[in-house]
Amino acid sequence: MNLTLKVWRQKNSDTPGKFVEYKADDISPDMSFLEMLDIVNEGLIKRGEDPIAFDHDCREGICGTCGMMINGVAHGPLGATTTCQLHMRHFRDVQVLTIEPWRARPFPVIRDLVVDRGAFDRVIQAGGFVSARTGGSPDGNAVPIPKPDADLAMDAAACIGCGACVAACKNASAMLFVAAKVSHLNILPQGKAEKDRRTLNMVRAMDEEGFGNCTVMGSCEAVCPKEISLDFISRMNRDYLRALWRSKQ
Ligand code: SF4
Ligand code: FES
Repeated sequence: MNLTLKVWRQKNSDTPGKFVEYKADDISPDMSFLEMLDIVNEGLIKRGEDPIAFDHDCREGICGTCGMMINGVAHGPLGATTTCQLHMRHFRDVQVLTIEPWRARPFPVIRDLVVDRGAFDRVIQAGGFVSARTGGSPDGNAVPIPKPDADLAMDAAACIGCGACVAACKNASAMLFVAAKVSHLNILPQGKAEKDRRTLNMVRAMDEEGFGNCTVMGSCEAVCPKEISLDFISRMNRDYLRALWRSKQ
C-alpha cells in the first residue's frame, strides 16, 4: 500500500504546530498503524529529520498510552479498537490520512502527537482508590459479591484511560472516563465505605482540570476502544447527587 500522511508536527506546547505531508510507501496491510508510523520514522531518521513523536507502550490495546485522531476520528475508523490494534488493511491504497493529537485544553500537546494526560492522573489521585487495609491477596470468594455487580464493576474497570472520550467530545468532557473510574470502585463492597467522598472529590478534580460538561451526545461512547457505556455517566450522576445531599445533612 502507498499512502499520503498529513501529520501534525509541533515542537512543544509554546510553539505553533502545522501539518506536514509525508509518503508512506510499500506498507503491508498486515502492519499495525503504529508499525506504519515506525517505517515512516525510519525514513525520517535516515534523512536526518526529526521522527514523528507519538505515545505507545503495550501495543496490545491494554495500557491506554497510544491515541491520535485519524481522519478526525479518535483511534481511527475501526470501532472498539485502540490505535495500536488498528491494522493498515482497514485503509485503502493511495488513501490520504490526516493524523493529529487529541485536541482538548486539559491535554496540552507535548510534541507532535503526544499530549500530556496528567489531568487524568490527578482525577484518579483525588479518589480512584480504596484506602482500607486489605492485607495480602484474599481468597477469591472471601468477600461474596453478587455476579451482576461483579460483571458491572468489571465492565467499568475495562477503561484504559486513553482519553479518546475527551478528544471526541465537543465539550472536551471527561465524564465517561471519570464515570468508569468512580463506578468500578463504588459498585464493589470494598469501595462502598468511601463512595460519597470518592465521587465528590473526583468530580471536583475533573471540573478543576477544565474538562467540559456532558451534553449526552454519545461521541465518547462511539469512540471508546473498551465500549464503556454511557449508562455509567447516569450512575455517576446519581451517586453524585446522593453524595451531595448526604454531605448537606
Ligand atoms: S472511557 Fe473509553 S475512551 Fe475514555 S479513557 Fe476510558 S477507555 Fe478511553
Ligand atoms: S500502546 Fe497500549 S493501548 Fe495502545
